[in-house]
Amino acid sequence: MVSYIDASEAPLKNTGQVRLYGPEDFEGMMRAGQLTAACLDELADIVKPGTTTQEIDDFVYQYGMDHNAIPATLNYRGYTKSSCTSINHVVCHGIPNDKALREGDIVNIDVTFILDGWHGDSSRMYPVGQLKRAAERLIDVTYESLMRGIEAAKPGNTTGDIGAAIQTFVEAERCSVVRDFCGHGLGLLFHDTPNILHYGRPGEGVELKPGMIFTIEPMVNLGRPHVKVLSDGWTAVTRDRSLSAQFEHSIGITPEGCQIFTTSPKGIHKPGLQTD
Ligand code: MF3
Ligand code: CO
Ligand code: CO
Repeated sequence: MVSYIDASEAPLKNTGQVRLYGPEDFEGMMRAGQLTAACLDELADIVKPGTTTQEIDDFVYQYGMDHNAIPATLNYRGYTKSSCTSINHVVCHGIPNDKALREGDIVNIDVTFILDGWHGDSSRMYPVGQLKRAAERLIDVTYESLMRGIEAAKPGNTTGDIGAAIQTFVEAERCSVVRDFCGHGLGLLFHDTPNILHYGRPGEGVELKPGMIFTIEPMVNLGRPHVKVLSDGWTAVTRDRSLSAQFEHSIGITPEGCQIFTTSPKGIHKPGLQTD
């Protein structure tokens, strides 16, 4: 059985308990989340054929420096970049490098800024030029699955309700949910209790209570769900080399439902693709 602890009384490490944060903490998360989201907004104009993922990473680093924020991934468990850039069949944790993006690629950019101790963790998919219909559909399905997960994130529901909402939708669209990576508690820590699985059954898992803060970040494949990690120790790819997409928001549970900390200030939640 999971136990809950007042975040202001908990030590600054993952104790296996679920932290419950207060209103001022939510304000800190909102500032960090909005900074991350504003940076993701800026990237919409930078991603195009010819841009390298290292140029994207340099922009993220400089954006953080200019706003008194530190990229949480920098020197995190040996990772040395300010972002993750995951192209096409890369599921997550792609490492920025000097290869140029090409017309038709899809790239996930995942940024976490630490601002005054608070972690704002979010990612979006960016199209590189014109996409094939299958790629565009995968992005739409993945975004919609995240939003369905967020709709299930409210007091009284469980983490399993979130996973079930995502999995049911994704599989009805004949895509698959990656099992090897999950969302996570965050706040004053980057990766905290509980894990947020993107699959599961209603009513399973941890009960959601006001004050909980965590990410939802489904990875969805056009083919089978299985992944492998390359020899660099980070880059996760689909085993069948099918396309993969991901969106991520950081949210907090409120008495009424939830608050999204990482909504796009410019309203470009699906850069280059929105029709709504
Ligand atoms: N931002 C990723 C997440 O959503 C974590 C990246 S850890 C790294 O949790 F080391 F790979 F950058
Ligand atoms: Co995350
Ligand atoms: Co992230």
